[in-house]
Amino acid sequence: MRRTATTLFLTRAVPYPSMKHTYYIRQSYLFCLYRNYMYDFQQYLAGRNVLEAGPNKGMLFEKYYPLTKKYTLLEPNEHFEKNYIKLQQRHPNLHYEIGTFETFEPAERFDTIVMMAVIAHIRSKPDEIFAKINDMLNPQGFLIIETNNTKRNLRVMALCEENYELVEAKTSYNGIIKWLKIDYRDVMVYRKP
Ligand SMILES: C[S@@+](CC[C@H](N)C(=O)[O-])C[C@H]1O[C@@H](n2cnc3c(N)ncnc32)[C@H](O)[C@@H]1O
Repeated sequence: MRRTATTLFLTRAVPYPSMKHTYYIRQSYLFCLYRNYMYDFQQYLAGRNVLEAGPNKGMLFEKYYPLTKKYTLLEPNEHFEKNYIKLQQRHPNLHYEIGTFETFEPAERFDTIVMMAVIAHIRSKPDEIFAKINDMLNPQGFLIIETNNTKRNLRVMALCEENYELVEAKTSYNGIIKWLKIDYRDVMVYRKP
C-alpha cells in the first residue's frame, strides 16, 4: 500500500480500519477437507471449550463444532459475521466476537486455543502474545498453533517450547503441494502444564 497522508492517519488513528475481505483458498471447502485430513485434531476439540483466533470464514473446524462443549470464534474482520450467523443456525454452541486478539478480554478460560496462521497478524510483542495465550488457557489445555517462519513468529513458538509440552507436530501439506514448496509449515500442538 502506498503510504499517503490519509493512510498514515488511518493506521495511527484507527488501528484496524475496515478490513478487506479477499478470497482465501485455505478456507475453501476442498482445502478445509484436505487440511482436516492432514491434521486429525478431534481429540483436542471434542468435549472442550474452544477458542479459535483469526478463523476467517470459520470453515476449517466446522465438522467438530457439534462435538465441542462450546466453540468461540474471535475475528476482527466484520465481513465474516454473516458466515458466523449462518454457522450458528447449524451449531447452537457456536459463539463469536468481532474483535482482535490484542483487545479480547474473555470472562472465561479455554480448554483449547486454535491459532492457525494468525500470529503474524497480531500487533503485539512475542512475549505479550504468549502471556495472553497462557492467561486464557486452562491448565492441561491445548494450544494448536501454526505460523510462517519469521523471526518474530518463531520467538512465540520458542516461548511455547520453553513453557509447554510439545504433544505433536503435524505437517500441513503432503505430496505435490509439499514438493512444490508452495507452503510447507507445520502445525504444533502444545499442552500447558
Ligand atoms: C491468514 S488468515 C488465517 C485464517 C484461518 N485461521 C486459517 O488458517 O484458515 C488470518 C486471519 O486472522 C485474522 N486476523 C487478523 N488480525 C487479527 C488479530 N489482530 N486478531 C485476531 N485475528 C486476526 C484475519 O482477519 C484472518 O481471518
